[in-house]
Amino acid sequence: MNGKKLLYIETFGCQMNDRDSEIMRQLLAKAYEPTDVIGAADAIIVNTCSIRDKAEQKAYSLLGALRKRKRDKPDLIIAATGCVAQQEGARMLSRMPHVDLVVGPQNIYQLPELFDKARQFRQGIVATEMARSFHIPPFLPSLQQGNPHKRFVTIMQGCNNFCTYCIVPYTRGREISRKPEDILAEITHLAAGGVKEVTLLGQNVNSYGNDHPVGSRTSFASLLRRVTEIKGLERVRFTTSNPKDLSEELMQCFTDLAKLCPHFHLPVQSGSNAILQRMNRKYTIEHYLDRVAKLRGCCPEIALTTDIIVGFPDETEQDFQATMALIEKVRYHSAFSFKYSNRPPAKSCQFADSVGREEKERRLAVLQALQQQITLERNREYLGRRLELMVEGESRAAEGQWSGRSVTNHIVNFESQVALVPGQLVQAVIREACLHSLRGELSM
Ligand code: SAH
Ligand code: SF4
Ligand code: F3S
Repeated sequence: MNGKKLLYIETFGCQMNDRDSEIMRQLLAKAYEPTDVIGAADAIIVNTCSIRDKAEQKAYSLLGALRKRKRDKPDLIIAATGCVAQQEGARMLSRMPHVDLVVGPQNIYQLPELFDKARQFRQGIVATEMARSFHIPPFLPSLQQGNPHKRFVTIMQGCNNFCTYCIVPYTRGREISRKPEDILAEITHLAAGGVKEVTLLGQNVNSYGNDHPVGSRTSFASLLRRVTEIKGLERVRFTTSNPKDLSEELMQCFTDLAKLCPHFHLPVQSGSNAILQRMNRKYTIEHYLDRVAKLRGCCPEIALTTDIIVGFPDETEQDFQATMALIEKVRYHSAFSFKYSNRPPAKSCQFADSVGREEKERRLAVLQALQQQITLERNREYLGRRLELMVEGESRAAEGQWSGRSVTNHIVNFESQVALVPGQLVQAVIREACLHSLRGELSM
């Protein structure tokens, strides 16, 4: 034993939360080492998400279940972090008095001190202040042996868009971009440690740098160019972008930058202009389709994916059919689709949640059936084609079975009797297309 205590983290929500969990693990590494066994933990962090009601309920039910653990082990430290923590603050403590710490996304950098305080004073502490002048501290990720070959890198926090259904501007605050030097230093450090792929994260990466002083701004497209020049890196991805801000300069990157993966997640939300307007998305379907056409012009092999909400307040059958028509027109490689959920204080809560639960479920099922058919047809387009894959790892289920990822973000399973290393690039010819993956044959 090295005298360290054990830390268990449960992460809900988006990749930004995944990245924050890594940062918290590293910040606490002096005193804690990670464990996968919740029962063995001396401290538990629940990194919560509040994007839909269901996500929030999941976080609360896990936190609720920890009450008994705390009773059996009074020294146990329980921290709630992430978007529900930010949103609920002190309310969370009164609902869950066994929780020691409630920490918002901007406050995770104080975690070591907060943990010390919690251990010392044994009373609930809330750290959810959001400062306008907040700077995301420079941060170099830890690199140990057996390091994963791909990493997330947060380039900005928050969102200024206030789409009417969305809680994120309330939980993550206004947009704050990290300094380009800090981002480049972090990625250079990762690449020097053997990382082959990075995904740059932000709620709306297109507006990266807009909060920096005019004259010393770096646009997202120029940041991308500089990232792709970092030695050792093979692939660069990013997520997410609001279509209203998708610039020509960014689209051009898909023509110019060989390491930028031809995959674009471009959330449309609805195919109806009336609904888009009430969502405050600030683009029309005509504009969106124009961007899609231009992107495909810049990079014909680009794979497009999207997010869609069904049952937004007052969504008529006609609006829903417009979304179905859009899906048929764009033919996305895949789509995430959700039932609308009221998220106070987001503005859409003031609109009557007029589409009933059953109708939302019906629309979602019809939409998903159509998208599945298109995804399968799209996947079949790869049959017979030779793709470059970045090895992800060997299947746990069967020896000699491996999986890799194509530049278009498709999972490809294949056989190899030779041992491979995650992050290594191989070539495979696609022989089979399923809904969630492709199957290929290694080809040297
Ligand atoms: N910043 C990203 C979205 C992050 S949230 C962007 O703008 O693209 C991920 C997805 O969750 C959204 O694209 C939306 O489709 C869905 N979502 C957000 N709020 C929702 C709500 N109140 N009900 C249902 N789905 C929602
Ligand atoms: Fe939410 Fe809209 Fe911001 Fe995305 S762009 S995080 S959907 S407010
Ligand atoms: Fe969820 Fe917050 Fe991410 S609400 S989706 S964890 S930004």
